[in-house]
Amino acid sequence: MARKREGDGRTALVTGGSAGIGEALAHEWAAHGFNLVLTARREDRLIKTAEEIRSRHGVQVSIIAEDLADPAAPQRLADRLAAENLTIDVLINNAGYGVAGRFHTVPWDDHAKFFQVLMVAPCALTHLLLPGMIQRGYGRIINIASLAGLLPGSPGFTLYGGSKSHLIRFSQALNAECAGTGVHVTAINPGFTFSEFHDVAGVRKDVSAMPRFMWQSAADVAREAYRASRRNKPVHTTGRVNRMIAWLARHLPQGLVLRLTQSRNSRGNARN
Ligand SMILES: NC(=O)c1ccc[n+]([C@@H]2O[C@H](COP(=O)([O-])OP(=O)(O)OC[C@H]3O[C@@H](n4cnc5c(N)ncnc54)[C@H](OP(=O)(O)O)[C@@H]3O)[C@@H](O)[C@H]2O)c1
Repeated sequence: MARKREGDGRTALVTGGSAGIGEALAHEWAAHGFNLVLTARREDRLIKTAEEIRSRHGVQVSIIAEDLADPAAPQRLADRLAAENLTIDVLINNAGYGVAGRFHTVPWDDHAKFFQVLMVAPCALTHLLLPGMIQRGYGRIINIASLAGLLPGSPGFTLYGGSKSHLIRFSQALNAECAGTGVHVTAINPGFTFSEFHDVAGVRKDVSAMPRFMWQSAADVAREAYRASRRNKPVHTTGRVNRMIAWLARHLPQGLVLRLTQSRNSRGNARN
């Protein structure tokens, strides 16, 4: 008889499932038997990813196109899930991007959308879906944060580090609140990861100078994310190099950390 997998009979919702790390997370959870709901703006990309996952992993995959910059999107998503009788056991808040440019030169509307997608939507979706998870005695919430959330702020990507620190602190607090409920909450901190992120931010040329050992594949990040969530780690930084950078940022004198990270940034304009 086939061994029961963690995902059998369960469903994971992945935001930003149309590309990069989100697509890899979707494959990873599907490989463990989870059915999926993928959401992002580009429906054509969601359809393609869903087809690949169905044929490779044999799980059910639904797609819901949504723009998480719209404050009404999380409730609309929850209503759609309820209408289609889709119970969410795993919520992966992954959708995100970076806004390049000096703070005052970026239109306020772009900053407001950034807050909505990277900070408000993950909390709103969690608020909508967590009660059901607690009631059923099983739930996994994975917030894709960043190594940047553990480092000093980066000039030129003014709000990015802070938005990821928020996700890390949110995950830590919620993980403690959920102790004993069967719900695990985990922040995942990738460093430089191959995806479309740096093309969307318009900094591909700058980051291409970063040495190969600084980079991880999205599949490696997804594998570590699955393991960390299963072990109920509140915060997990992916990759040995990133963990070493995080350790140094905690232990070196803060003035030195500031100088090192900001000189890296002024040279490479490199963010993750
Ligand atoms: N790549 C890195 O080096 C790196 C490092 C650390 C952390 N991260 C984090 O990892 C997460 C995934 O990024 P990635 O590297 O995989 O980048 P990516 O390849 O550009 O993928 C970003 C995903 O987010 C979705 N998305 C963006 N804006 C959205 C919106 N308004 N509404 C709904 N979905 C939206 C995109 O889908 P649509 O365009 O179809 O909407 C896409 O699926 C982000 O939170 C990012 O901050 C990335």
